[in-house]
Amino acid sequence: MADTLPREQRRAPAYQNGGYTYNKWMEAQGLPVHRGFFIEDLRTVDIGPWKDRGYNGAFIQLMGQEGVSEARVAEIPPGGSLPPLKMAVDEVVYVLNGRGLTTVWPSDNAPKTTFEWQEHSLFMIPHNYTYQLSNAQGDRPVRVLQYNALPIAMSAVQDPSFLINNSHAVGEIADASEELYSEARSVDAKGSLIEARGVFWYGNFFPDMRAWDQLVPFRGRGAGGTTVFIGFPGSEMSCHMSVFPSRTYKRGHRHGPGRVIVIPKGEGFSVMWQEGKEKVVVPWHEASMFVPPNRWFHQHFNLGGDPARYLALHPLRQFAGHGETVEDRARDQIDYTSEELWIRQKFEKDLAARGLSSAMPDEAYRIPDYEWGYDDK
Ligand SMILES: [Fe+2]
Repeated sequence: MADTLPREQRRAPAYQNGGYTYNKWMEAQGLPVHRGFFIEDLRTVDIGPWKDRGYNGAFIQLMGQEGVSEARVAEIPPGGSLPPLKMAVDEVVYVLNGRGLTTVWPSDNAPKTTFEWQEHSLFMIPHNYTYQLSNAQGDRPVRVLQYNALPIAMSAVQDPSFLINNSHAVGEIADASEELYSEARSVDAKGSLIEARGVFWYGNFFPDMRAWDQLVPFRGRGAGGTTVFIGFPGSEMSCHMSVFPSRTYKRGHRHGPGRVIVIPKGEGFSVMWQEGKEKVVVPWHEASMFVPPNRWFHQHFNLGGDPARYLALHPLRQFAGHGETVEDRARDQIDYTSEELWIRQKFEKDLAARGLSSAMPDEAYRIPDYEWGYDDK
């Protein structure tokens, strides 16, 4: 069943049998599917046997991911390996805990590339490469989060066997295989779609997102936050990671669906709401995951004594709206001076419960578009 849909689902039109091809395929796999607004800890979320693939895992399909992005958790047993996997779409892997190895190869007779990873590593597997994940530890399991645009691909090509473990050869990207997992390098964003960011980091392997310190100020969103934008060679996928100081919070904003946020470090909460509707509070800490639903406002709060960082795995750009670059500030971002009082009160109350107080400057609430100072200026 891994690579085909049940016959009755293949033959019925989508409007009759519940929608996206991806959803039907996912539900037919027989492992847990977690829905809702957030997963508090991906390291402990319930997993179950994926019979066709021979390991334990789960699908995470939160509100806002539908039809746009796939997120899966896989557990690699102590000293074990997952079966090789080949996808016709690029796949991003984030390591939730433990240490291990990835072996990647473009075809049966081609040389294999192997690299080591650890907790908080991030890497991208290019489409049509076969890859295998192994646990380098003999005494405990490892968990990873896998992210891709399979739902979009399955809507366009409604044949899972075409997209998963097909026999198609790797295309011209194979030329780059020797450098496939070289270290990320900084690239001038001038002339690109993300020119406003100044630089982005380009590579297939980021060894430790928890320690990564090559960030630049992200002035518009407030709180003195910094960010790094990540691009992958030959891929339309991208990510960014934001870091913001202890006892501060960012401006509320909204954009498109499908963006998976996972926390490498820190503790706090986020608030998400559809304009004029009830608010959802998402508590988070390391290995929490949440997804701001399409066009819902959301806002991130750091309740910890240290900077917090969140890693955002982006959907394909068609679905990102304007992403983190809010173009229509008046409609898609809420300044501190015009936010609901409730926001500030909840933040201060939650800090007080920890014996802490807010580090938000008073001016932020009085001066529209207040800008934090950065050391570089
Ligand atoms: Fe956002």
